[in-house]
Amino acid sequence: MTSPVLTAIYQRRSIREFTDEEVSPELLREMIRAGSWAPSGLNNQPWRFVIVRTEAIREQLAEQTHYGHIVRAARALIAVYLDTTAMYDSLKDHQAAGACIQNMLLAAEALGLGAVWLGQILKNKKEVNRILMLEDHFDLMAVLAIGHPQHRNQQSKRRDLPELLLKEL
Ligand SMILES: Cc1cc2nc3c(=O)[nH]c(=O)nc-3n(C[C@H](O)[C@H](O)[C@H](O)COP(=O)(O)O)c2cc1C
Repeated sequence: MTSPVLTAIYQRRSIREFTDEEVSPELLREMIRAGSWAPSGLNNQPWRFVIVRTEAIREQLAEQTHYGHIVRAARALIAVYLDTTAMYDSLKDHQAAGACIQNMLLAAEALGLGAVWLGQILKNKKEVNRILMLEDHFDLMAVLAIGHPQHRNQQSKRRDLPELLLKEL
């Protein structure tokens, strides 16, 4: 079976090496638009976003994670937040954030960009809020490092279905 959606799902890989080419603001907004069309409980849309293209701010963020080399290589970042004042159910709102982020990664794939979901930086989420000048009620979910891929030969693998499928009743 082929469809553009399935192709994007299967072809998407975490991209961690980028060219120096800038990422256009329109493409970043398209990624955010795709994220915003994720499902959310009660359609409460608790996600919020910060686009970072400025090199000096990227450098400050790079210092907050073990994966600083990826942050430095990426020409753009999108920090994905939950606005805790817009939340109604912690588990469901976090699930919605995950759906939003995956939509964004698939959009990056569809737009010919490369991206990787950075979670390790969450250990310094307070410092990230300070750098981005955000109030405490914004809770960092992920930073997406985005750029034009240097190559697309990133390999990944998945467990086979029989290992995952517990039962078929
Ligand atoms: C919650 C979460 C956190 C992640 N954090 C990082 C990270 O901090 N650094 C990184 O290089 N990749 C990170 N990744 C990317 C995973 O390593 C990657 O998705 C996984 O190895 C599968 O590879 P693939 O995305 O190419 O299929 C994260 C992914 C998720 C879902």
